[in-house]
This record gives sequence, C-alpha cells and structure tokens, in this order.
Amino acid sequence: VAEGLGVARNTVMAAYDLLTAEGYLRSRAGAKPVVSELSARRLQQAPKPRRAHGDERIAPAWRGPAPPQPARPVLPERSFRVGVPDHRHFPFEVWRRLSARQLRAWGRGGPFHYPPSEGIAPLRQAIARHVAFSRAVVCEADDVVVTSGAGQAFDLLARLLVTPGRTCVAVENPGYPPVRAAFAAAGAQLVPVPVDEEGLCVDRLPPNARVVCVTPSHQSPTGAVMSMARRQALLAFARARGAVIVEDDYDGEFRFGSRPLDALQTLDRDEGVFYVGTFSKSLFPALRKGFVVAPAWAQEALRSVKRTADTHGDALAQAVLAAFIDEGHLARHVRRMQPLYAARREALLQGLRRDLADWLEPIPSEAGLHLCARLRRPAEAARVMRAVMACMPGAQSAAEYAMGPLARPAVTFGYGVIDAAAIPKATAQLRRMLSGSGA
Ligand SMILES: Cc1ncc(COP(=O)(O)O)c(C=O)c1O
Repeated sequence: VAEGLGVARNTVMAAYDLLTAEGYLRSRAGAKPVVSELSARRLQQAPKPRRAHGDERIAPAWRGPAPPQPARPVLPERSFRVGVPDHRHFPFEVWRRLSARQLRAWGRGGPFHYPPSEGIAPLRQAIARHVAFSRAVVCEADDVVVTSGAGQAFDLLARLLVTPGRTCVAVENPGYPPVRAAFAAAGAQLVPVPVDEEGLCVDRLPPNARVVCVTPSHQSPTGAVMSMARRQALLAFARARGAVIVEDDYDGEFRFGSRPLDALQTLDRDEGVFYVGTFSKSLFPALRKGFVVAPAWAQEALRSVKRTADTHGDALAQAVLAAFIDEGHLARHVRRMQPLYAARREALLQGLRRDLADWLEPIPSEAGLHLCARLRRPAEAARVMRAVMACMPGAQSAAEYAMGPLARPAVTFGYGVIDAAAIPKATAQLRRMLSGSGA
C-alpha cells in the first residue's frame, strides 16, 4: 500500500492502527485485516436537519438567532483596537519563573485535590490587598470570589440577582453588550438608561430597577467618568429602592487625571454594591481572571452559584497570579505601562483636536485604554465612520454597544496596542479623507 500511494510505511501502519482502533478494520495477529461490516444505518445516514434557531427543546432565552456579531476585519497587530492591552511589555519571564516555581512545589507536595470554587485563599488575599490599596475598595479575602474574567462575574451575578420575568435590570446605553447578554439570559427585564458626560443619567432610572449595572470609572464605551454627584445620587437611589449596584471597574487601574473618584463600593454604606474587577486589561485577557467583591449578605449564595457554574477553579494560574501580585509584579507592570498608555492617549487627543475637530469631539475621560469621540453632525455618520474605519482600523462605532439608535453617534478608539508615533499619521490621513483631499 505504501508503495502504491508513494507514502512512508509508517504512515500506512498508523492509518491501519487508527482504522482498527475506530472499528473500521478487524485485525488478528498473522491474518490479513478485514473491513468491518458497518451497519447500513451508519452508511446511509441522511444529513441531519439543521434548524438555525427556534427549536422548542431549547430554553426560550437561547432560542432566538444569536445576536449578530459585527463583522471584524482582520486587524494589523498595531491598530486602534478597543479593549486590548499591549502584550509586548508583559513580563513573561517573571510569569514563566513563577509558574515553574509553582509546578516544582506541586511536584513535591501534589495538588491532586480539587481547589475551592471561590478561588484559592492566597489569590483572594492578594486581590483583597490589591483592590484595597489601588482602588480603596473596602474588603477582605472572604469577600472575594475569583471568576473566569469579568464575563463570568456578570453571569454569576445575573443568576444570583434575577428572578426570571420579574427583576428589572437597568443597563447603560450605550453599554458593554456581555453584561446585557448575561442578565437577559437569566430572564431579567432589561431597561436601557442613557449616559452623558457625567456617566449614567441616574434621574432616568426606572423606579422599579432592582439591579443597576454601571462602569463609573470609565464608562464603556463613552469613557465618561461618573461625577461624584451622580455617584451619590445612584447610591441614594439604591438605598431608597432596595436596589443593588453592579460596579464594573474593568480598566480603572490606568488613570491619567487628577485624583480618581472613589469607587461606588468605597462610598457605599449600605452593603448594596457588587464590585467586579478583571485582570484582562492590567495583565492580559487570555489569563481569564476576574473577581467579585460581594457584600456580606450575598457571599454564601454567590459561592453556591459559583460552585454550580464551575465546581472548582484552575489553581495553577491562580497560584501564579497570587505570587505575581504579592511580589509586587502587578503594581510594577501597571506603573511601567502607565506612561506608555498616557503618551498614546495624549497623541490621540492631540490628533483628534488638531486634525479632526471639524468632525469629532472627544468625550472627557481620565482612565482606561480607550477614548471616545462624538460626531459633530449625526447626519454624516455613515461617511465619517467609513473613513474612520479605513484610516484608523480597529476603532468601533458606539452603535455596536447600543440598544436601539443613539441620539449622538460616537466612535471609540483603543490605544492599548497602537504606538504613539503612528497616531499623528493616522489622524492626518483621516483628516485628508474627510476633507476630500484624498487619503
Ligand atoms: C466594560 C467591560 N467590562 C469588563 C471587561 C472585561 O471582561 P473579561 O474580564 O471577561 O475579559 C471588558 C473587556 O473588554 C469591558 O469592556
């Protein structure tokens, strides 16, 4: 057979072994292999009918067509992509060393038991110390549940807080779509609430909202910082209505303004805030590490939800992350990245002001890895967006974050993976395209 096909003998042997293992051949020592009799049913199987959606065996929340995913162009490594940090400066060598150390320790002691679903104690302690120090979040290790990114935190909180068909959940509009998806899947009645330059418009909250999801440090996607007046008003709303707040502090480690405003969790006196954090921006998203700091009354139930969703956790990555935080590498990495991101942000702001002021108006913002700018004339949105996408690939329309049409279209530019030096060229090119003098 090998000669006939012009392939190596070992390749043929491997093919025979595979066919035998899967039951297509029967072979006995010393005898020729014979082809098994496959059941006629198997051979004649009709193609399975495929229904894209609507099958009644699927729970109603999942029955409809999947929400359309915006077409994502293949982006160059350096682009204005939103929401990704720069991996080139990550201390991989440190991570490798800490991983090796952990594996050596496991080799001696053996990790062959299941780790706790809420996260290993050293990581919960490290996170508690980290958020207490960096964000003045009031917490101890027992208040922390480790999750697979903020994404899983939203799913757990939705399961914890929503009574299907009854609970009204207020979400920012525009706002981060995965939050909406998690609460909608849990059966919440979603109410979109507008945001402006001061963050969520608290006076537009429906009185029956029992959960309010917000990004006060750096609204997603507009970048607005929630003013202190709004923070106080939101906490007063929650107190008066018995509502809880889900505070998503996804990229607040990177701050560029004056003193940051306190987190809602820090200001809260009523145990009404779930603080959600993630290492997706400060380290990298593939790490899949996030956490919830929960008020005392909800901790036992939240741990049960976590245990149900994911009985345990990946203790290796958790142990490495705990050591990374405890030994000061996280703080050092954030400190090292801060001036790099600050320079990119400044170059972007300058470019927007110098080249694009006729079309775009940046929304004031003091944190994170992206900036947003409103279009001065909504009527020309289609043309401006087309030109933006051509000259500044990776930028995203705020419409992708919106429920329904937005009164004022806006565009979001990430500066996590673009070099500061490349920004002026891109904004100048966009100016030429928009002013009709060619690209
Ligand atoms: C508003 C917001 N929250 C949270 C996250 C982080 O999600 P995860 O921790 O699941 O990567 C992101 C990431 O882009 C985000 O934009």
